[in-house]
Amino acid sequence: MWERRAQIKDRLLNEHRKIELLLLPYMELVLGEYEKEPERYSGDVGEFIANVEEHWYLHAKWEEKEVLPVISGHPIIDELLAEHRKIKELIEKAKRVKSMEEKVAVLRELVLAIKNHIKKENDVIPGLLY
Ligand SMILES: [Fe+2]
Ligand SMILES: [Fe+2]
Repeated sequence: MWERRAQIKDRLLNEHRKIELLLLPYMELVLGEYEKEPERYSGDVGEFIANVEEHWYLHAKWEEKEVLPVISGHPIIDELLAEHRKIKELIEKAKRVKSMEEKVAVLRELVLAIKNHIKKENDVIPGLLY
């Protein structure tokens, strides 16, 4: 049981590191390009959102299935689940809004939401998995 908790903690920190070092910088880079020439990329943005969505959902689903049950009863859980819902809503909104400018603004909000969410998880969850 304790060994499993240590494994979960390692995987959690690893996935968060990948999100912080790869996914978020990738999103910021792409959004910077979209801001320079929005009309040029309007055909690509759907695939970009789909990539981000896939990467994010794999992580969030694993976390909800394997991590949160291990710390069940802790008050942080409701907060984290609410943030997962908020992040999902932002992804859906980014798909739904029509203009490139709106999509980029929502995706900027998404970068920030994911960044803050992961920071909060890293501050709290590892300490509960010892
Ligand atoms: Fe999370
Ligand atoms: Fe996470």
